[in-house]
Amino acid sequence: MKTTINKLSEHVGKTVKIGAWLSNKRSSGKIAFLQLRDGSGFVQGVVVKSEVGDEIFAKAKGLTQESSLYVTGMVKEDERSALGVELEVTDVEVLHQAVDYPITPKEHGTEFLMDHRHLWIRSKRQHAILKIRNEIIHAVNEFFYNNDFAKVDPPILTGSSAEGTTSLFHTKYFEEDAYLSQSGQLYMEAAAMALGKVYSFGPTFRAEKSKTRRHLIEFWMIEPEMAFVEHEESLEIQEQFISHIVQSVITRCENELKTLGRDISKLENVKAPFPRVSYDDAIKMLKEKGFDDIEWGDDFGAPHETAIAESFDKPVFITNYPKDIKAFYMKPDPNREDVVLCADLIAPEGYGEIIGGSQRIDDLALMEQRYEEHGLTDDAYKWYLELRKYGSVPHSGFGLGLERTVAWISGAEHVRETIPFPRLLNRLYP
Ligand code: 4AD
Ligand code: MG
Repeated sequence: MKTTINKLSEHVGKTVKIGAWLSNKRSSGKIAFLQLRDGSGFVQGVVVKSEVGDEIFAKAKGLTQESSLYVTGMVKEDERSALGVELEVTDVEVLHQAVDYPITPKEHGTEFLMDHRHLWIRSKRQHAILKIRNEIIHAVNEFFYNNDFAKVDPPILTGSSAEGTTSLFHTKYFEEDAYLSQSGQLYMEAAAMALGKVYSFGPTFRAEKSKTRRHLIEFWMIEPEMAFVEHEESLEIQEQFISHIVQSVITRCENELKTLGRDISKLENVKAPFPRVSYDDAIKMLKEKGFDDIEWGDDFGAPHETAIAESFDKPVFITNYPKDIKAFYMKPDPNREDVVLCADLIAPEGYGEIIGGSQRIDDLALMEQRYEEHGLTDDAYKWYLELRKYGSVPHSGFGLGLERTVAWISGAEHVRETIPFPRLLNRLYP
């Protein structure tokens, strides 16, 4: 019977056939251990010479790394294996013999691995990270489906920018100028006025010259937008959302987290509510922690975020940043004109900002004033203003970066490991 590795434990005592690749092999004169993978998981196949005969044993012993195979065998319980089973191999059919696979079990440098990303993703560690990414994507869609959000897809080619004009990818759109989207937010605000609670989940592009372990040029962002939802309620939805994602991964990706050596006790804590620290207090905390140079009005960099996050064992919201360091669309705090109703959510353990969000300006006159201040005279922004003209309502939204979330939950050092084919500064290959 044909099956897959993740289903083997349902067939204990039976003979099954799987399609697989050989990821590694150990053998002696009498026994060969085949490390098999099929995408669904990893399992050990044991080939015993005295059981299979000389011909099959010789074939198994001669297998090269990453050759593709059909393997037939009997499923046996084995407590040492992650899946609780191993395969007593009775036959091996070679589909394709791989020659000189470049990624050997020895250590390789990062650049070498990045040049071979198309093959590197087959490794056990990369496989585990991509499985966790998949589970996070599923948990995101599940959360929004269960909470009556409609998924809406904003355009990727746009004539306007949401987050500032310095980091846009430019292209020609026939006779016009166009940009690759750096956020779907403005369109999602329009969608929220039509469908109430909406979210987008798509690729975003930033031509930032940042070479850090948290920056990608192309990354995936989840952007909910909610009509009739004010700042505080938005924070409550964010903490519920993140808790759901983390708890889903703990439950459904036990093996993958184990493969990665992730300290799960640090994730188990991640349940709503999350602490909130105002920007004003964050400045005080930083000064107490020895950041003497930081002044009210400065934006935070990675070291500042890490220092603040260190004081908490859960993600922490930093709220109410100065208006001048945040985007033009954020609503001022009604009690204090110099700060806005916004929050960044900082992940624990030094993984940095994973969410940026805010309540949006809903007053037409104030938005017109912001347009003036930011020189948004372009026709490209006309439609966005009209949202404040016809039935304007309080509304809030936020953006979660998928890859930073994957990095945090899986414990990956660098976001380059959290997306199948990373686009980085100076890397477009493979
Ligand atoms: O804080 P950002 O720039 O917010 C926005 O784009 C808003 N329009 C979102 C909204 O309110 N709808 O980006 C949101 C998140 C960040 O917190 C971070 O997780 C991720 O997107 N992000 C990046 N991830 C990887 N590489 C980059 N270069 C990123 N830039 C932002
Ligand atoms: Mg941000």
